[in-house]
Amino acid sequence: MTKLWGGRFTKSAEEWVDAFGASIPFDKELVEEDITGSLAHVKMLAACDIITKEEAETITKGLKTIRKKAQNNELEYSVQNEDIHLNIEKFLTDEVGPVGGKLHTGRSRNDQVATDMHLYLRKHTKEIMVVIKQMQLALLGQAEAHVETIIPGYTHLQRAQPVSFAHHLLAYFWMLDRDYTRLEDSLKRLNISPLGAGALAGTTFPIDRHYTAELLEFDGIYENSLDAVSDRDFILEFMSAASMIMMHLSRLAEEFILWSSQEFQFIELDDAFATGSSIMPQKKNPDMAELIRGKTGRVYGNLFSLLTLLKGLPLAYNKDMQEDKEGMFDTVTTVKGSVKIFTGMIESMKVNTDVMEKETHSDFSNATELADYLASKGMPFREAHEVVGKLVLLCIQKGIYLLDLPLEEYQQASDLFEDDIYEVLKPSTVVKRRNSAGGTGFEQVKKAIALGQEKFKQK
Ligand code: ARG
Repeated sequence: MTKLWGGRFTKSAEEWVDAFGASIPFDKELVEEDITGSLAHVKMLAACDIITKEEAETITKGLKTIRKKAQNNELEYSVQNEDIHLNIEKFLTDEVGPVGGKLHTGRSRNDQVATDMHLYLRKHTKEIMVVIKQMQLALLGQAEAHVETIIPGYTHLQRAQPVSFAHHLLAYFWMLDRDYTRLEDSLKRLNISPLGAGALAGTTFPIDRHYTAELLEFDGIYENSLDAVSDRDFILEFMSAASMIMMHLSRLAEEFILWSSQEFQFIELDDAFATGSSIMPQKKNPDMAELIRGKTGRVYGNLFSLLTLLKGLPLAYNKDMQEDKEGMFDTVTTVKGSVKIFTGMIESMKVNTDVMEKETHSDFSNATELADYLASKGMPFREAHEVVGKLVLLCIQKGIYLLDLPLEEYQQASDLFEDDIYEVLKPSTVVKRRNSAGGTGFEQVKKAIALGQEKFKQK
């Protein structure tokens, strides 16, 4: 079969070589964007009198027919036609005859593919922003229900200080808030049009790039044709924002995995988000959380393969760049899927407040409170730290916790202790009193929830 670009060739490549060079097996994902771009291009060609109105109408009709067929899965793509652009051009000439060949006037596949990817990523970035919002809402919902639910807070995965469960969940709300704004910000740089840059140098035809940009709802055009066809920063920005989203999800996934273990039992995942074992009948595995943690690796990998692909590439288009697509598609699918699954897991999880309550009474995470108590009565904090450290040791030797130690023992350690320490040492008091801005005190957490809700109204 002759190629659409076959003029200067005397011999065709063998099929297996064609197959190696083809991108159609994966870039058919861009069919909608490719047709959208072509529809704008042909409209502009007619408006600039580069082709006649009748020709433009015929081509437009043909493209719309192809779009219908694509939507009904009726297109039979061929590897011989290499990529989505040439496949569609072939369908078009089959549909409308030689006039279809006029569509490619004043453009190249290089600006065409760049345009397709801008359109694709703009759409999916927006969709990912929507699912991020939904996950934020799920976190806010659980936070509202658990302002006064207290869990052990950890540093080094050792019990540190008790915190409100809502406060812990809201930490992820703010991570996602940054993720959202990162995507939002990336749209500013993404939303410019490479169309009309040609192969690399622009074109002799009197095209109107601003008009196609407007038709495609871009905010402007690339100012430099070489940059327009060789820029993939917009994909890198997306992938790095995506990597951070996945990193955040993987941290929460790890917490969910720990919390749902027999050892913690802080939460129980809904059956809809867990799986059983083929051999051990008692098992309920947090597979979805584990998968999200695992999928983080491929999203990082996609970022790194594109960075590596672009390193040292001379201007302008190089066929290497055909390798930019699969990672982009995969990142979109993976991130969107992971965020959606997480939202469902958060909404449906059962929070074992009784276990959390019991656990916060079974540790020394109120020890800082006791040191603060002495310090607030004038003892230098360093000395207070020493006194309380000794009391903790005494409790460990006796097999009890600070709330169980009799007042006499406290007063032997320091005469600053009075019987109000038992109130001070309660986990709920400990949390309540951490009322500094952004702290875990209930008042602060309620404020944070209100702030979160406020943010939502703006989005
Ligand atoms: N399939 C190609 C890609 O995805 C389209 C651009 C091809 N351009 C070229 N000059 N061979 O990169």
